[in-house]
Amino acid sequence: MLAFRSPLVGESLAIQNVLKTIEKVSQTDSTVLITGESGTGKELFARAIHEASPRAGKALVVVNCGAIPPELLEAELFGHVKGAFTGAVQARQGRFELAHGGTIFLDEVGELPLHLQVKLLRVIQTRTFEAVGSSKTVEVDVRIIAATNRDLEEAVRDKEFREDLYYRLNVIPVRIPSLRERKSDIPLLVNHFVQQFNQITGHAVEAPSGAIMDALLAYDWPGNVRELENLMERIVILKGQGSVDLGDLPHRLFQKYTESRPSGEGATAEWEFPRMVLPQQGLDLKSIVAAFENHLVDQALARTNGNKNRASELLQMNRTTLVEKLRKRGMIVPAAQSRAEAMAEVAEAIASNQVPTGATTGATINNGGNNANTNPTAGNIGSVNPTPINPTRGFEPNV
Ligand SMILES: Nc1ncnc2c1ncn2[C@@H]1O[C@H](COP(=O)(O)OP(=O)(O)OP(=O)(O)O)[C@@H](O)[C@H]1O
Ligand SMILES: [Mg+2]
Repeated sequence: MLAFRSPLVGESLAIQNVLKTIEKVSQTDSTVLITGESGTGKELFARAIHEASPRAGKALVVVNCGAIPPELLEAELFGHVKGAFTGAVQARQGRFELAHGGTIFLDEVGELPLHLQVKLLRVIQTRTFEAVGSSKTVEVDVRIIAATNRDLEEAVRDKEFREDLYYRLNVIPVRIPSLRERKSDIPLLVNHFVQQFNQITGHAVEAPSGAIMDALLAYDWPGNVRELENLMERIVILKGQGSVDLGDLPHRLFQKYTESRPSGEGATAEWEFPRMVLPQQGLDLKSIVAAFENHLVDQALARTNGNKNRASELLQMNRTTLVEKLRKRGMIVPAAQSRAEAMAEVAEAIASNQVPTGATTGATINNGGNNANTNPTAGNIGSVNPTPINPTRGFEPNV
């Protein structure tokens, strides 16, 4: 991992609720127990509590109870006197003392051996302890935040975790939801990490959208935000620049995406509409939707060489609706239409049994409900001029 302190990213309801709780608890000295799967951001939230608290100017001491060998953990937490054990050549302060005035974050507290659970219980109750090998009681002013990805209630049932300690720690429980429970945060996190790693590495990889974003949304992220962060770091470093392709995604993601894509008859727009991140300043929804519609209409016309019958079939809409849309966009220009074009239109309409009311070959052509005209060259079924779409800022249609 590249060293970089991330801000808390997330707008989902689930994260908003966590943030509200954190805001409230940060103003107190109450003990907090943060739970959640690995990689959900437990440490980040613990830091957020400390940084929003009146203790922010003091130390935040982090102890990973699962990473320190059990025989060393007691001295690490509470300190030791000189000669307390082999190798204790001089006295050393423990992490609780170092956190005096600030906060101690006991990560993976579920891994704490039973004999240290008793000692921790006493610290929580009295804020006092003795260093290893000492009989002198030390008093500290420390706020305790603990975290675990273990089910502590189950550990209590299995007699691996003391029930009294569990209740002492669990004064304010904060559960960080898994990423699959708040998939709406994925686009924000993806953009955040791509931007972050571009900035760190000086690379210029475009934030994924379209099918790539669909694939990222379809995946369940068992490693949660950490897994997503690591993937974005890898993609930015290996890609260097340009847009991300499906081939840049690891097999597990790609597979999940192809499995989850509906196929064949009845495949709805669910997987086809573009994903975009709502910009902070908001957007003009009407014009975005109109631009997207025009984009698909133009594609349908281009694919059918301007044949409005086939284009309207592709778009599953009435031909008249399509014609109306084109007219509104000024893409049907009566005066500029040649006789040959008009005849082709009539032939096309006849072939598909959609001859407009009153129309006969080479004679009357419906001009949109106004006056009938016997001169095809003056009719209003004009040639279609599929203009390239004006690319809409900020979204990339997945078509
Ligand atoms: N909401 C978020 N916004 C930005 N970055 C996040 C967010 N949540 C997590 N991260 C990042 O994801 C990574 C994992 O977060 P963190 O270490 O806090 O998870 P954890 O729950 O403590 O994991 P573990 O249980 O494995 O210790 C970190 O690099 C963190 O910065
Ligand atoms: Mg952690």
